Amino acid sequence: MTRYLETVAYHAEDGRSVYGSEQAELVARCFVEAMAASYYQAIGAGAAGVPSLQALCRKLAGEEARHYTMFRRLLEELRREEGAHRLEAVRVVWRRLRALNDEQILYASYVVSGAREPFVLKNESRNYRARVLSLYRPEHVRFVGTLVAQVLGLPPPPKSLDGLSGAALRGMNAAALLMG
Ligand SMILES: [Fe+2]
Repeated sequence: MTRYLETVAYHAEDGRSVYGSEQAELVARCFVEAMAASYYQAIGAGAAGVPSLQALCRKLAGEEARHYTMFRRLLEELRREEGAHRLEAVRVVWRRLRALNDEQILYASYVVSGAREPFVLKNESRNYRARVLSLYRPEHVRFVGTLVAQVLGLPPPPKSLDGLSGAALRGMNAAALLMG
């Protein structure tokens, strides 16, 4: 952690919205919390035989889901006052998806992995995606898809599409590679 904090500069807090509006900020928070909840679910599911880690992941996934619910309630309140900015919400989700590949996240992944070789963005990007994608099962993709769909005002992905989850993840991987 110390190594990470010493190396990664955090953006300055100047009171301005990073995403441009309160609704957009809340959509970004919902997306992040949904991803975090699904990530802990996926880690827990992959930790068969380590009950203490499974229990911890269940607890963390529940907490992240509660954060999602809190931000979504705030978002819905604001939408009742201002009307829903759906197109903006789609743009924020897309931006957050792309940010999964950003330097800060990748450097955190590199530090946590304890790698000894020098940090190379492209290599870590590949390693990180491989690690994350190997954990996700169709039910985790459906879970995060359902939470994000709620924010976008879309119907939840049906169970019948579970078979496409693997293809969707590979597609995201390929898209991320193309975008560098
Ligand atoms: Fe959270």
